[in-house]
Amino acid sequence: MRTVFGVFGDPVAHSKSPDMHNAAFRELDMDCIYHAFRVSPENLKDALLGARAMGFGGVNLTVPLKQEALKIVEADSLAAGIGAINTVDFKDGMKGYNTDGLGAKRTLEEKDVTIKGSNVLIVGAGGASRAIAFQFAKDGADIIIANRTEQKAINLASEVAAVGSARGCGLESIKELIAESDILINCTTLGMHPNTEGTIATAEDMHPDLTVFDIVYNPLETRLLKEAKKAGAKAVTGEMMLIYQGAEAFKIWTGVEPPINVMKKAVLEGL
Ligand code: ATR
Repeated sequence: MRTVFGVFGDPVAHSKSPDMHNAAFRELDMDCIYHAFRVSPENLKDALLGARAMGFGGVNLTVPLKQEALKIVEADSLAAGIGAINTVDFKDGMKGYNTDGLGAKRTLEEKDVTIKGSNVLIVGAGGASRAIAFQFAKDGADIIIANRTEQKAINLASEVAAVGSARGCGLESIKELIAESDILINCTTLGMHPNTEGTIATAEDMHPDLTVFDIVYNPLETRLLKEAKKAGAKAVTGEMMLIYQGAEAFKIWTGVEPPINVMKKAVLEGL
């Protein structure tokens, strides 16, 4: 019988996950289907129990359910640290994972960027920043989190410091911090459609040994990445993080490494 997978969230209609996973299932000739379901936080528990009872293969969670899920699902240590679950597996009860940081890690590794031992400057202190900061600190990077609201960066860094090296600060000395960094990651919404002129830094702030990774993928080439190219820095686009977090979820559910290029094509066609 066909196995059902899904993403729960609200809003969820524009999620790229169904296209991405269904393309992978088709390519691998697996009898599976992935669908988006609109679920509110109040209904998350019922929805998860229902999905498990109906034999779902697994689900992803998106806004506004990732934190709420911690009350319901047994989280692994990384997801518990991040404080958010984006992947639920039903094989053995209800296990929760967070593959967002792994998605960022694989995106950089694919571009031959080393994380261990590197100085990583993460700008922003929201959900994406949390996932990346925990993962990269665990992987041995030295993390600085810089945020417009300084206290949020300081609070997040003090949590991340439990698994590795991290400190938090405001945006005042961002130029000096970039000069000392190997990797700069934008986890703010600056540069996102429709305000595409926004950027956390310009070419003068950057150096040619820097890798600049923007998690914004609408547009794919953000102002920040244009500035990075101008400075001769390595520019890494954000859609790969979405694809790799999906690929990691796919592996948790099925034990199979999905075809990345097929998933990428499906995501790019939908952008
Ligand atoms: P996500 O969950 O996707 O990471 P979020 O939680 O909405 O997104 O976080 C957005 C981040 O972008 C925050 O760090 C926010 O800074 P504040 O904590 O000070 O609000 C940052 N951000 C949004 N607009 C910004 C701007 N114009 N300049 C600098 N940072 C900005």
